[in-house]
Amino acid sequence: MSTKQLYAPIAADMQAVDAVIRQRLHSDVVLIRQVAEYIIHSGGKRIRPALVLFAAGAMGYEGTNHHQLAAVVEFIHTATLLHDDVVDESELRRGNKTANEMFGNAASVLVGDFLYTRAFQMMVGVDNMRVMQVLADATNIIAEGEVLQLLNCHNADVEIDDYLRVIRYKTAKLFEASTRLGAILGGADERTEHSIAAYGMHLGTAFQLIDDVLDYSSDEAATGKHLGDDLAEGKPTLPLIHTMKHGTAEQAALVRRAIETGGRDDFAAILVAIRECGALDETRRYARAEAKLAADALGVLPPSIFKDALLQLSDFAVGRDH
Ligand code: IPE
Ligand code: IPE
Ligand code: MG
Ligand code: MG
Repeated sequence: MSTKQLYAPIAADMQAVDAVIRQRLHSDVVLIRQVAEYIIHSGGKRIRPALVLFAAGAMGYEGTNHHQLAAVVEFIHTATLLHDDVVDESELRRGNKTANEMFGNAASVLVGDFLYTRAFQMMVGVDNMRVMQVLADATNIIAEGEVLQLLNCHNADVEIDDYLRVIRYKTAKLFEASTRLGAILGGADERTEHSIAAYGMHLGTAFQLIDDVLDYSSDEAATGKHLGDDLAEGKPTLPLIHTMKHGTAEQAALVRRAIETGGRDDFAAILVAIRECGALDETRRYARAEAKLAADALGVLPPSIFKDALLQLSDFAVGRDH
């Protein structure tokens, strides 16, 4: 199922979010407009805004603050991508040159800061202390996740739990915040808010596990990103960790060396090793388990088209190729 089909119940809301994004992207500084519009209109999946809208919808929310908060989480996501592509030295995103390739590292970092701070201006406009708390905590955790990941790079002794912590922080936390915000707007009781937030956290974990599979198995036409970026950075993701644990001594040594030195020289050989020890299937199994926990967490919600969409999204997160 495509995201367009998945988003059918919120199609009008997504358009409203788009209008907010367009309007709030504005700056008198031309370079900010150029870089921000370049990345934000380049066709992301807009999953985080959709999560805000679905969660709010599932709680029967009827105002318009969910459009603002959906735009806020997309701005925060976009800011992290601008920064992430500088740190990862990535050249391709959403099928186009990354902003760092087009405009340079400095412009990417600074416009990322613009988007972050614009998101905080918009969040304050919603005037709800819980909302501010959730977003302040989430952005702080994301930053910790990115720094933890930096520390793990080129370290072949990273354990699965260390890896899982990084992906919960850098990716799942914003998914969790997105669903939690929708629940807060909709006036969810504590237990329901907790369950919707747990859904977001497990969904985000599944989503990043699959992102790490796609880095070794998809094709660039589908992901719009270069394959092998993770290996080039010496990132010990689950496909590599699994290969070191379950491959032959030679395979383990090959992966260890590649993580320690980085680069793409051994990409072809690593792909063979990963496939031979079933590391991608194992990573997908982890993702499926997380997606199931996500779906289970929705048990507390009353039936609705929004709940159905959230359930479908948990399948999409695992089955996706982009
Ligand atoms: C990319 O996120 C970064 C990860 C957390 C894996 P998305 O896959 O949601 O990126 P876009 O917005 O659709 O391009
Ligand atoms: C996700 O990690 C980055 C953020 C959460 C900012 P990746 O580095 O795997 O994301 P991609 O693959 O560059 O999109
Ligand atoms: Mg990256
Ligand atoms: Mg990736």
